[in-house]
Amino acid sequence: MINPFIYGEEVVGDSFINREDELRMLTRDIESNERIFLISPRRYGKTSLIVSLFSILRERRWLTARIDLYKATSLESLANLYGVSIIRSIESKPEKWIRFLKEFIPMLRPTITINPDGQAELSLNLHPREQNIELLLDKLYNLPEEIAVRHKKRVAIAFDEFQEIRTLNGEKIEKALRANIQRHHNVSYIFAGSKKRMLYDMVSKPSSAFYKMGKVIHLNKINRKDFERFIITKFSQARRSISEDALEKIFTITEEIPYNIQFLCHQIWDKYYGQKKITVDDVEATVKDIAFGQTPIYTTIWDRLTLHQRRVLKAIAASGGKGIFSQDFRQQYGLDSPASVQTSVNSLISHEFLDRENDSYVFLDVFFKEWISRRMSDFGSE
Ligand SMILES: Nc1ncnc2c1ncn2[C@@H]1O[C@H](COP(=O)(O)OP(=O)(O)O)[C@@H](O)[C@H]1O
Ligand SMILES: [Mg+2]
Repeated sequence: MINPFIYGEEVVGDSFINREDELRMLTRDIESNERIFLISPRRYGKTSLIVSLFSILRERRWLTARIDLYKATSLESLANLYGVSIIRSIESKPEKWIRFLKEFIPMLRPTITINPDGQAELSLNLHPREQNIELLLDKLYNLPEEIAVRHKKRVAIAFDEFQEIRTLNGEKIEKALRANIQRHHNVSYIFAGSKKRMLYDMVSKPSSAFYKMGKVIHLNKINRKDFERFIITKFSQARRSISEDALEKIFTITEEIPYNIQFLCHQIWDKYYGQKKITVDDVEATVKDIAFGQTPIYTTIWDRLTLHQRRVLKAIAASGGKGIFSQDFRQQYGLDSPASVQTSVNSLISHEFLDRENDSYVFLDVFFKEWISRRMSDFGSE
């Protein structure tokens, strides 16, 4: 049986744990034409949720397109990505793509190639020197509304990793996008993103182009009971089982981050393939394997940190990350002034080693945390 635990890509169908409440709320909001800012740390399941939401909407005859802004490295690539995503969401047949472009944006010429899997790929020939890229983008931003009106359909567009728009040409592009989409009445928008602080700034700072442009939804981890049921079912479908304390251990170590749970379960599944019952010791041993397997990477990271930053990380790994500025805490872990702890923490957050969750500081990579906690006892190194 193939490994049922999937990580590192969006999960769909049978591998998607139904986020019923979230889907119900999002469907309702989208249908009432609300603009949504969907925010969570990386790997919580935003993309997977959008993919599921869009398949519900398509069953209701909506047209949907998702644009991953991580892939847009310049205005030209944004235009290409945007145009292609929209055309592909509307016309599935390659022979119709050309007709579509002629109808809507005659100035663009498409290139259609066949990829090694035998599927047709579309790209737009943009000649930045010949045309004004900003004008072209304006045209593209309005395309969904034009299509909606002409085809008498509702359209939903998701910008995934929306904060990356800031890396393009800053304010100017945000203002242009805003100016266009606020005139759209038949298109609903989702702006999803992982850089929490940046996205909050984008919607809540009066000076920002997207100030009060939509409703903010904070995506939480997945309901624990649902995740448990998913894991138990996947093992039992292969006539295998997992003990209750093993499950408990999985949830604590992974801090219930969906990606981590799937990743850990995937490794457990493979490591103990022939074994009928998974125990808590098996979970422990797998975590140790994973952390140890990352040693070359973690050592490189570790070597680049300052001594003070290492101390802060060790302290957070050992303590759980609450009250790290208190005198007791600093004394216990040999940290000096609150200001110096703050400096290290800020730097560790900006390098995405730590994140702030309510009043405590957490590791973004829980296996890095495991590696730090175990390195002295298990790996014999300081
Ligand atoms: N609803 C879900 N059901 C099962 N696993 C999920 C779900 N959502 C997320 N995951 C797990 O988390 C990983 C990251 O999900 P993804 O949608 O890419 O998150 P994000 O877009 O927030 O970074 C997936 O590859 C999968 O392992
Ligand atoms: Mg994503």
